[in-house]
Formats: sequence, C-alpha cells, structure tokens
Amino acid sequence: MTRRARQAEVVLEARNLKKIYRRGNEEVAAVDGISLDVRRGEFLAFVGPSGSGKTTLINLLGCLDQPTSGSLTVGGRPVFDGRRGLSEGELTRVRRRVFGYVFQKFYLVPTLTVYENVLLPFAFFKKPEAAEDPLRLLKFLGLDKRIRHRPAELSGGEMQRVAIARALVNKPEILLADEPTGNLDSKRSREIGQVLGELNRKEGLTVLLVTHNKDLSRIAQRTVTLVDGKIS
Ligand SMILES: Nc1ncnc2c1ncn2[C@@H]1O[C@H](COP(=O)(O)OP(=O)(O)OP(=O)(O)O)[C@@H](O)[C@H]1O
Ligand SMILES: [Mg+2]
Repeated sequence: MTRRARQAEVVLEARNLKKIYRRGNEEVAAVDGISLDVRRGEFLAFVGPSGSGKTTLINLLGCLDQPTSGSLTVGGRPVFDGRRGLSEGELTRVRRRVFGYVFQKFYLVPTLTVYENVLLPFAFFKKPEAAEDPLRLLKFLGLDKRIRHRPAELSGGEMQRVAIARALVNKPEILLADEPTGNLDSKRSREIGQVLGELNRKEGLTVLLVTHNKDLSRIAQRTVTLVDGKIS
C-alpha cells in the first residue's frame, strides 16, 4: 500500500456512541451520541470543559470501557455493535495490539529502573514479533542517559517520557494520551508536546490527545471540542 493510501485508512470508526451513567433516578450522558472517524497517522486533540466527556470518550475509543449503545470499529474490526461486544479476552488482545496508553499520572514502578519500567509490559504479555527496541525508543525520547535511573531520580517530564516509551514498546498503532501534561509545568509540557508531534510525524503514529493546554492542542491536525458529551 502506498503511504498516502495507508494514511487515508480509517483506524477508528465510532457511530452514535453513548455512555450513560445512572445516579439514582438521574441519568448522565457522559458521551451522548458521538460519531467520529480517525484515520491512520492523524493527530487529534480532544478539548472541552471539565466534565464534558473527554476521558469517557477516549476510554471508549481505546476499548478501556464499553459503551451503553452505538458501535465502534477498530482497524476495520467491529468491537462493539449495538449492545454486543467482543469477549473480554478478545478485547484484551485488541488493547495490547492496537493501543498504547498514557495518563496524567505516570504509574511508574518506583523500585524498577527506567529500562525495566519500559520493559514492564513484557512481564505480563508475550513479547510481540514487532516489538520496539526499548533502547531505540529511550534514545528517541532523549532518555538514553537515564536508563539505569529510578523514577525518583527523574524530573516529571522525564517520568512522562518513560511512560510514553512504555506505552510504545508493544509498537501500537494508536497512542491515547489523557492529559499527559496535567502534572507538568509549561516547559515540560512543551517537551512532551514536541515528543508526541515527532512520534506522529516521523514514526507515523496515530495520536489521540486529551488536553486543557491550548499550546498542546495546537500541534494536533484536528481538534474535536466536546460539550456535554457531544461534539460541538
Ligand atoms: N464512573 C462514573 N460514574 C458516574 N458518572 C461518571 C463516571 N465517570 C464520569 N462520569 C460523569 O460523566 C461526565 C463526563 O466525565 P469525564 O470524566 O469524561 O469528563 P472530562 O471531560 O474528562 O473531564 P475533566 O476535564 O475534568 O477530566 C461527568 O459529568 C462525570 O461526572
Ligand atoms: Mg478527564
């Protein structure tokens, strides 16, 4: 396939996705009928006020959560359709193979070195054939001088870059990042933004980013604004 054809390929297709939470008699539509196509190699930013459904939506798209209704196709494969979905085992495989996840909290293991933290997914999952070389990743992320350090010896920005390396070691197609700079100052946030931009441009990684940070959302090719669980 040519590069252009690959880029045009739809990797995520959401149709009328809804996630309804019930609190007593009250219903909260956290995600209220969202339809969205994400193409390979895109960089999307999700913005919107607190409580507008960004985390709920990105968790649905990343198969970390199941919708109340609607459909989701990942890489052409139906994952949820109406109320039916894949089995938990199949979902786990999709999560491992397709997605890398980065969160506001870094979730590094304090007793392990940087290198060991990056290799952590392989302690739980079989190493895939197409796994990334962890040293190449750490170099790409500017961490090659830190590989024997422990998380407590790193800056916040470095910790988040370790978490990004760990998310990428399975060679995912899509990186999901929910407020990855929420705990970082503006300089470190810019560095993370640069790293995400480079991964997208140079490595062709599809990136879905949730952020409150205007500077960060500007590096995305497309911005999706949510209000009350809907695309506004
Ligand atoms: N597990 C849950 N149970 C009940 N309601 C929930 C749950 N998770 C989220 N909600 C509600 O769904 C709505 C959307 O929440 P969500 O966390 O997706 O917003 P957000 O845009 O990520 O907000 P923030 O910017 O503060 O992270 C909110 O009204 C929230 O209170
Ligand atoms: Mg959120």
